[in-house]
Amino acid sequence: MCGIIGYYGDKDAYPILFKGLKILEYRGYDSWGIAVKQQKNIILDKETGHLPESVISKNGNIGIAHTRWATTGKVTEQNAHPHTSNDETIYIVHNGIIENYAELKKYLHTLGIILKTQTDTEIIPNLITHFLKNNDLKNSIEKTTKLIKGSYAFVGIIKNRDELFFARDGSPLVLGKEKNELFLASDVPAFLEYTKNAIFLNDKDYGIYSNKKLVIFHNGEKINEQITKINWTVEQAKKGDHPHFMIKEINEQKHTIKTAIEQNPELINKVTKEIENAFGVFFVGCGTSYHACISASYQFAHIAKKHVNVILASEFSNYSDFLTNNALMIAVSQSGETADLIDAIKIAKQKGVKIISIINSLESTIDRLSDLSIIMNAGPEICVLSTKSYTSQLAILLLLAYSTANKLNEGKKLIEQTTQQIPDLIETIKPKLELLAKKLKNKKSIFLIGRDLAYPSTLEGALKIKEVSYIHAEGFAGGELKHGTIALIEEETPVIVLTTDETRDLILGNAREVKARGAFIIGIDSKNSEIYDEFLQVPELNHANPIIMMIPLQLLSYYLAIERNCDPDKPRNLAKSVTVR
Ligand code: AGP
Repeated sequence: MCGIIGYYGDKDAYPILFKGLKILEYRGYDSWGIAVKQQKNIILDKETGHLPESVISKNGNIGIAHTRWATTGKVTEQNAHPHTSNDETIYIVHNGIIENYAELKKYLHTLGIILKTQTDTEIIPNLITHFLKNNDLKNSIEKTTKLIKGSYAFVGIIKNRDELFFARDGSPLVLGKEKNELFLASDVPAFLEYTKNAIFLNDKDYGIYSNKKLVIFHNGEKINEQITKINWTVEQAKKGDHPHFMIKEINEQKHTIKTAIEQNPELINKVTKEIENAFGVFFVGCGTSYHACISASYQFAHIAKKHVNVILASEFSNYSDFLTNNALMIAVSQSGETADLIDAIKIAKQKGVKIISIINSLESTIDRLSDLSIIMNAGPEICVLSTKSYTSQLAILLLLAYSTANKLNEGKKLIEQTTQQIPDLIETIKPKLELLAKKLKNKKSIFLIGRDLAYPSTLEGALKIKEVSYIHAEGFAGGELKHGTIALIEEETPVIVLTTDETRDLILGNAREVKARGAFIIGIDSKNSEIYDEFLQVPELNHANPIIMMIPLQLLSYYLAIERNCDPDKPRNLAKSVTVR
């Protein structure tokens, strides 16, 4: 899940590539590299660590670049991309994993080609060189991609040819096309400043760009390019006056939740019909999106009186025996590129299951695999942590539950009412959370408890705290703590209690149990209680409580990161879109 970018046009490539890497850095930031072609030579820069603020640019109007999230091979300068063929004629940047790497390494060995790095990527330029007989680049790409098993998106340049070539299968690659230039990137924001003409490649598409001419192939055949006009602005992909994308995107929830439910009524109707008529509904996702699926299962139980299954995408294959062609999968994803979910969708499609996805990325792989897609319209989410996309998912899933209960307008009204509360809530609660973060910054563990709809919110709150502050945090159903984990509660252990009107008596009972063992109780509630050592007031919004309760949890995570000098936008070891299994 690296970020790759390429450029061939009439401008200098280096500054365009460097800027693009800066935008793609949310995809991985272990090391970076840029290669540009100058006459018969290729200039290569590679370094470990985050991208510097600025670099010395180099001439050359053809180039490729990469920002890495290490999968195969340690984080070293040598393992940073671009990688070259042994004869240094071909340079490649790659996003994905070559699963039959060991086998292909042996094959190259039999050809006398010894790899210099620990990476699987180095296989590609060496195979391309090996098959580049009679200068037939198309044929060489075809032979190379036929041998590779796993996922890839790669872009390459050749020392003695003014050409740029590319291929994808399983990892995202989108082209940006203008009259005399071509941009290639893992994601649209990388070239949005230069063009809004995007060409989203499908799996097994590949091609060549030379003499200002683009040719795309699929299975040996030339295919037409489908241009999609992007309706995002460059500003949306920038921090603006905010110090970090995380706090910018938390604030954007003042309007993204409302935008999320501004869906075409016909589409909502169609999706509702599919849910009503399905024999088995499966909500599937990963990470934060999985938590939205759990929350949805409570909403459908309470509002629509409908049982739905919730399954982790990476575990979905274990349930394939129960799938029939009357079943329905609701796939939930911000990026639309999460490999585990793509695999789950492919398993379901093989069984004839209908796929409806809730995603934030138009034309993403999951969008194109789905029978119907509900686009969240939350705008680009750059911070690795999902914040605004989570509350948009919750809002759309809540709307679908109300629609399934034939109470669509009631649902819409509640969600709009919730959105109106957010600006004041953020303003009033921010100072309290900044102080609370100072109190909690050195804690080893933080526990979160909640019941009913608040339970999945504890899971998401814990994930946010872990991802960005590296403090161990765990969310629990309130009744579960006394079945074991309460053993971890000691003097001053922070326990965040998510209380709703519906669950107050029981959850405060659980709060008393941990308080009796010395816990420091932080209450997120509409009413104060003598049990709380710290009270964070949020409005009581019944079925919309999971949405409003995320605001203090997201803000607390952000301020904990600030207090602990962690980078809120690029947490260690993480990447925004998980395109490997
Ligand atoms: C959440 O903050 C993380 N970025 C991660 O858990 C994420 O939710 C997960 O990788 C799923 O991503 P998706 O929504 O893009 O499919």
